[in-house]
Amino acid sequence: YRNLRIAILGAGSVGAQVAALLLEHGEELAGRVGAGLEVVGIAVRDLDAPRTAELPRELFTTDARSLILGADIVIEVMGGIEPAREYIELALTSGADVITANKALLATHGPELFAIAEQVGAQLYYEAAVGGAIPIIRPLRDSLAGDRVRRILGIVNGTTNYILDRMDRQGDSLESALAVATELGYAEADPTADIEGYDAAQKASILASLAFHTIVPVDEVHREGITGITHEQVRSAQRSGYVIKLLAVCERLTDPETGVDGVSARVHPALVPASHPLAAVHGANNAVFVEAEAAGDLMFYGAGAGGVQTASAVLGDLVSAARRHVVGGPGVAESTQADLPILPISSVVTRY
Ligand code: HSE
Repeated sequence: YRNLRIAILGAGSVGAQVAALLLEHGEELAGRVGAGLEVVGIAVRDLDAPRTAELPRELFTTDARSLILGADIVIEVMGGIEPAREYIELALTSGADVITANKALLATHGPELFAIAEQVGAQLYYEAAVGGAIPIIRPLRDSLAGDRVRRILGIVNGTTNYILDRMDRQGDSLESALAVATELGYAEADPTADIEGYDAAQKASILASLAFHTIVPVDEVHREGITGITHEQVRSAQRSGYVIKLLAVCERLTDPETGVDGVSARVHPALVPASHPLAAVHGANNAVFVEAEAAGDLMFYGAGAGGVQTASAVLGDLVSAARRHVVGGPGVAESTQADLPILPISSVVTRY
């Protein structure tokens, strides 16, 4: 039973929670993988910065490169383009699998990073890059790979959904709702990325590329944020039976002028009928509504932002990556633990 060496790059709101959960539940996850998951280090810029979780100091290092070169699996949760791009490239070329939550990086350099991974036979996992805790990357890439997706309507930015929801239900101003969203750790380091729709556009680029098996560069995503939305608009939408949501819309279209079939991806505030499932997505939650030819309508819903929620998706990727390293590791049957007893019905209280 060998140990897999895990390097974490970044200890911000997601990174600190990934490290904390891994240190706490490492043994249980190891049982699902068939190998130990040893955190060999956490690369940070500032050793003394405040963290959202208490972590052993000796794990911190400012030498990301050495840490990467000694790892089997690298988790990039530092965000930003550089040096994240360079570190991921270094990790892949050194033979490590990489897990990233970095939508900005994938939306701008995704194709080149996937090409490197393919060349060297490594894997790049990114379930956490869109929709926080919500499983949406695997469903689009795997579960729906045999279907044809017609359209995706996504609430993919928690901060703006939180703000619009507060404006709608509590009459809050954009500024004060944004302050709370920042306090709760939902907003990006620069919240302009949230309220001007850049973050949602990056996610739209990732979703559209996956759903339509093509490359949709983020520059091709039409983008409009929520800063122009007024209380009057929110109220008048409400009176007419709608709610205003910032939607990422990705769809197959035929150009009416040329007859050419193609794809459109755009982010803008939209009127959603109060009866549509997306209208019931409150707070910082996200939802991705997928319309597929054979499957029909599907909705993926859950926490779209937040450190510990996003860490869940990162750790799911870690288990997938780790299983790949363990040749002859436990199959699903073998890793299923039989030590949880089935309780008698008399001990069950049903409460919804
Ligand atoms: N700032 C992002 C959001 C974080 O509000 O959704 C998750 O990507």
